[in-house]
Amino acid sequence: MNTELHKLFVDQLRDMYDAELRIVEALPKKIEKAQSSDLKAGLEQHLGETKTQIKRLDEVFELINEKQTRNTCQATKGLIKEAEELLSEFEGSSAIDAAIVCAGQKIEHYEIATYGCLCTWAKQMGHDKAYVLLHESLEEEKAADETLSRAAIGEVNLAAHH
Ligand SMILES: [Fe+2]
Ligand SMILES: [Fe+2]
Repeated sequence: MNTELHKLFVDQLRDMYDAELRIVEALPKKIEKAQSSDLKAGLEQHLGETKTQIKRLDEVFELINEKQTRNTCQATKGLIKEAEELLSEFEGSSAIDAAIVCAGQKIEHYEIATYGCLCTWAKQMGHDKAYVLLHESLEEEKAADETLSRAAIGEVNLAAHH
């Protein structure tokens, strides 16, 4: 077994675990501030998915016999702080939804990058069950990013996701 790659895998799982826990805390504020009902619904759906993603990470830790601990994800912490600043700056503005979409997409792209690497490494190390779980989360993040892109131009069709 490649112990250095395993160490990196666990390190990034713990980073993602912290990130998802922070996102669950931050999403309700965005939902509350969103004006369009489509954007609100898209964010609500992703809040539910994020809770599932945390459970998947729990399962992955169990599968590889590693402790479920969080390592502070400075990137997500910073992205959330910036989002909060942006949202208060655009409170009451007609551009508030655009600001929410932009802040949200920055986070989705970060998550896509990390889950993408985690998937690659899980596959390389033969953690097949972990790969399946991480890949499900990766696909959800990509779909969430697309939903936000469509919300930005007012074309969300949530029915298509069910
Ligand atoms: Fe997530
Ligand atoms: Fe996400």
